[in-house]
Amino acid sequence: MAGIDYISKIPNNVDLTSNRRLQRALEDWQPKFLEWWQDMGPDGFQARETYLRTATSVDAQGWAQFGYVKMPDYRWGIFLADPEPDRRIAFGDYKGQPAWQDIPGEHRGALRRLIVTQGDTEPASVEQQRHLGRTCPSLYDLRNLFQVNVEEGRHLWAMVYLLQAYFGRDGREEAEQLLQRRSGDRDKPRILGAFNERTPDWLAYFMFTFFTDRDGKYQLASLAESGFDPLSRTCRFMLTEEAHHMFVGETGVGRVVQRACEIMREHKTDDVRKHGGIDLPMLQRYLNFHYSVSLDLFGSEVSTNAANFYTAGLKGRFEETKKDDDHQLKSATYPVIALNGDAFAKRDEPALPSLNERLRDDYVVDCDRGVQRWNQVIKRHGIDVELTLPHRAFHRAIGAFAGLRVSPDGRVVSQADWEARRAEWLPTPEDEAYVASLMKPVVEPGKFAGWIAPPARGINGQPVDFEYVRLG
Ligand SMILES: [Fe+2]
Ligand SMILES: [Fe+2]
Repeated sequence: MAGIDYISKIPNNVDLTSNRRLQRALEDWQPKFLEWWQDMGPDGFQARETYLRTATSVDAQGWAQFGYVKMPDYRWGIFLADPEPDRRIAFGDYKGQPAWQDIPGEHRGALRRLIVTQGDTEPASVEQQRHLGRTCPSLYDLRNLFQVNVEEGRHLWAMVYLLQAYFGRDGREEAEQLLQRRSGDRDKPRILGAFNERTPDWLAYFMFTFFTDRDGKYQLASLAESGFDPLSRTCRFMLTEEAHHMFVGETGVGRVVQRACEIMREHKTDDVRKHGGIDLPMLQRYLNFHYSVSLDLFGSEVSTNAANFYTAGLKGRFEETKKDDDHQLKSATYPVIALNGDAFAKRDEPALPSLNERLRDDYVVDCDRGVQRWNQVIKRHGIDVELTLPHRAFHRAIGAFAGLRVSPDGRVVSQADWEARRAEWLPTPEDEAYVASLMKPVVEPGKFAGWIAPPARGINGQPVDFEYVRLG
């Protein structure tokens, strides 16, 4: 078991005290991080005690400890999953060689770019979510929001550790810039599109944690395969935290679906809004939006970068080591969906440049599983509606389908058709205004806003009406 040094200013299991130079660099960065957290982290509530879990070791059993913490006192630290003895690079040109414990010089730039791109998403989501606490639907949800926020803060620490420990001066500069970019800022935006979108309300938040945090899961899982062992171990531990974020998204949307169904049954009506709920057609529009912007995060269908990252052993496939092929893919092909005339069809492409698309495919399957679980809720209420993932070419801004006008069911449509039906397919200003009108804080323990059902159970075995955040 890898215990964590909690005595140090920066909790860690990387023996920071024996590396004075690195320790000083991180201690120098720490107050800047805290300053960023105060400026851009959750608005309000910083002085409130919140029932949070904190990592205390990285083994499967004991890593989470629950207790009341004020967010600025959360022990952000550096935790790597235990090393695998004699770990070998599992793919690419270096397949079979010992995993690197240091940066291979010729891949330094590419690795830095991968780490910075991942690192940039972590503070971005905290910034996107910073005003949500003010309109929480319950203390339970407020606590979950803050848990996600502090963990995204820790994921930033995880990437900054790699930058500072392995990249010298330019790593330190990148670490500074991670605190200087701002989500949605016109002059210094975050790197990736979805992380510059607004998360104005809790429905958007639940969709974000379901769809966009799930992109994170797939990116982290393929970086966890990296031949650069410190990156692999860092990402493996981050994935254990990420699971909770997707739980928040899946159960959050699921509870909104459930509440809509309850209203429909109770009042024998489809007019859910009349009774303060979020109707299923609007939910579908939010889903369409968040799914499509999250698909963009995987990048172009054909990408030499993706091929190079793989061949160089830097970024693998999802569950690389479970796959049964040569793990080099030089002559392999992969079916990629493309527009052929005015229809979409699969076409075999060289496997290496198609790796983004392959990861996107894994992601799509995973998203669909969650959507089917929401549909089970609808079915249980005897309601004949199904939520669906829109076609992957719908509303895309990156890759082969960018700029095409495609309906959610996968037909290429004219610009005029698109304009005419946009309001059926994507959230409208009226939708957003309606959802905004529902965003009234509910902070009495055990009480929930009228648009969302209570969860099936509380956190860490606590009752649903537990005082998850002490506001008194
Ligand atoms: Fe994260
Ligand atoms: Fe996350």
